[in-house]
Parts: sequence; C-alpha cells; structure tokens
Amino acid sequence: MTRSLLERTIDMARAGRTPATGEPVPTGRRHPDGYLQYLAGDGYAYASEPGGEIYLGADSLQFAAFVQQLRLRGRALDLGSGSGLLAARLARSCTHVTAIDNSAAAVGASRATLAAECAPDRFEVVHTDLFAYLRETCPVDAVVTNLPFVPVPDGLSYSGYGAGGPTGLGLVERVLAELPAVLRAEAVFCLKVHCAVGPQGPLVAEPIRRFLERTGHAGCLMIDGDVPMAFRAAQSARNAVPFNPGHDDLLGVFDRHYSHLGEEFVSTIVVTQSASGSLRPGELITVDRRPAPAATAPAEAVPLPLVLRRYGALTAQMPEGYEELGTAAMVDEVAAHAERILELAAAGAGLEQCVREGLPGVAGLDPVAVRGYLVPVDRLRRAAQREAV
Ligand SMILES: C[S@@+](CC[C@H](N)C(=O)[O-])C[C@H]1O[C@@H](n2cnc3c(N)ncnc32)[C@H](O)[C@@H]1O
Repeated sequence: MTRSLLERTIDMARAGRTPATGEPVPTGRRHPDGYLQYLAGDGYAYASEPGGEIYLGADSLQFAAFVQQLRLRGRALDLGSGSGLLAARLARSCTHVTAIDNSAAAVGASRATLAAECAPDRFEVVHTDLFAYLRETCPVDAVVTNLPFVPVPDGLSYSGYGAGGPTGLGLVERVLAELPAVLRAEAVFCLKVHCAVGPQGPLVAEPIRRFLERTGHAGCLMIDGDVPMAFRAAQSARNAVPFNPGHDDLLGVFDRHYSHLGEEFVSTIVVTQSASGSLRPGELITVDRRPAPAATAPAEAVPLPLVLRRYGALTAQMPEGYEELGTAAMVDEVAAHAERILELAAAGAGLEQCVREGLPGVAGLDPVAVRGYLVPVDRLRRAAQREAV
C-alpha cells in the first residue's frame, strides 16, 4: 500500500527531523537552506508596486522548503501569497497554482516570482480577498497558507500581513470554516501559523481538531520554535507603532492582552490529509518541541529589487524574528555575562529578573529594547539545563 503523505510527514516529525528539509536538526542551527536559496537569488525575480511592502519571514522560508519537500500534486491554492515564494515552490510539483492576495504589492511580487518559475498557463495570481475567492472556486487538491497570526487587541491597528484579530487566529478560524467545501477527497491542507500556548496547548490545536472532525482528515501539528510571550508582546508593540500614531502605551496594552493568551508563543506547521492506512481520521499529534530556530545568511547575500520588510534572523545565534528587537551585539553581551546570568537562574530567578540583574547595561534602555535580551538569555538557560542533564 502506498503510504500517505501524512504518514510520511508524521514519521519525519517523530524522528526529530526538521520540517523544512527532512534532515536531522543540527544543534543550534535551523533551516539554513531557505536563506541560502532565497538570499542567493534562487532564480526568483521579485517585484513590487512602488512603496508597497511585502512580508517575507524566516517562517516563509522554512515553510516554503517544507512545502517543496511534500511534492504536492494537482491543482493548488496559496492563500495570502505575499512574495509568491510558497506558490513558486508548489509550482515545482503541482500542475496548476493559484496565488491569492488582497495586497497590490503582494500580487505584483507573486506574479513576478511565479513567472520566473513556470509557464504562464500553469499559474494564476488573483488580487482579491481570499474569503471571496474561496466562496467562488472549484475544489482543489492542495491548499497551503501562511496567514497573518499576530494577536492584536481590539481598538489597535496593525499591518494587513500580520493582524490576526484578538487571539491571532481570526483568519485561521475563518479559513478552516470555509475550507471543507474547497477540498477534493484526497486533498492536503498545509498551514503555517505562530500562536500562543494556553493551558490546553497551542491555541491552534482546538480549531484544527474541529476541522479534522468535520472533514474526516487526519492531521499532524508540528511545533518547532518558541519565544517567551513577553518577547512576542514587545515585537508586536514595536511593529504596531507606525499604525497607531500618538499611542503612548503600546507595550502595556500588548502585555496585558497577551498575558491572557498564554506564556509562550510557538511556531507551528499543520498538515492534514484525508485519512488512509494506519492513521485514524481526526488524529492530531504534537511533536518536535525544540529550541527556537535560527537561520544563517550566506556571505554572498544579494540586495533584492523589492521594497521588502524582511523578518527573520540573520545570524546563527539569533532566533526567528529576533532582529526586530535585538542585535547580534545583544547576543554577544548575554554570552559575555553568561556566568552571572546562570548564577541568578540557578538561584531561581525568572527570565526577566535574569535580564535585569544579570546584564549591567539594561537599566537605561527603553523597556521594549530590554525585551530583546529575553531570547538569548532563555537560550542560555536552556543550554545550561541540557548540559546539566
Ligand atoms: C504572513 S503573510 C505570508 C505571505 C507569504 N505566503 C509567505 O509565506 O511569506 C500573509 C499574507 O496574507 C495576505 N492577506 C491577509 N489577509 C488577506 C485576505 N483577507 N485576503 C487575501 N490575502 C490576505 C497579506 O497581504 C500577506 O501577503
């Protein structure tokens, strides 16, 4: 019997292999291939409307490499296609790809990226609201999506490529509600989303479970990176500044809101497929909890002809998204004070206390910048714990 794609995906996750490449996760380094391929050009052409901004994160690169590895077939959709990177990877194995985005800049970039990858009759780029598109389209064989995921408290504004409603999962839940009508019998659905972890686990698990029950699909939820919630709150507060001019307490508002959502923020990939073989419909497993990913940029990185807001770490030591708040110098500073920080941790100090009392330079910094130290201090503590075991 041919083993289903989902079974192979789950095996890979259980074996501790990185979703991006299928290779064993190298210690302290993650998903470098995405950066290498992307930054070195990889045959892609990117373009955008003047002044337009397009999302391209470490998560995009990781997910694109993962999707390529699945070698999906038939007719595929990329919902919220941004740069077009995911759609272009789909086009390597699918017969036809439709990329959908509601941003003109993203549509321009997706079109240029796909045109560099495949013949004009094998793709279509549609400038529309993805929910309007889902209501009109015929069933397809594969749907991939990296949706906006940032939890944004009511009353605040945020960028269209990040805003995910108060829980961060507003768009995900709406897509899950519309999707069953759009999936053919053997269809595969792949979702990349970051979310808070509440007392019952990652917030995305429950809506996915309901989706599996409704569709009879089996599913695999992989977690492969996490940051402290206080760090994510500061990232969101900083990114919200241009959209909320004059607001004087964004950090406070995000902190209060996020404290109700959970204690950490994780990076997840979900794959679902109609059940076959040994997998029971509705099975959902959570695997691969590891230290947050880091990615490397190649020395030969080239500037891109794109007005691009690039997220993601560019050094081997910095985890995904880190550069929004921190610098490589901060990582070095934590390393230089490792002994003191670990003494504090051993005496039972929490993460924020380790930052405030373990690092001499933080007293004068603004409170958002101070949060930049949380992640390297967290990694340091965990590395020490691993060594002690
Ligand atoms: C997190 S970005 C991901 C982009 C790209 N797929 C990637 O992985 O890099 C989300 C994208 O969804 C688009 N988007 C958000 N809401 C949308 C909607 N209602 N309809 C269509 N596209 C939407 C945004 O413009 C943005 O390009």
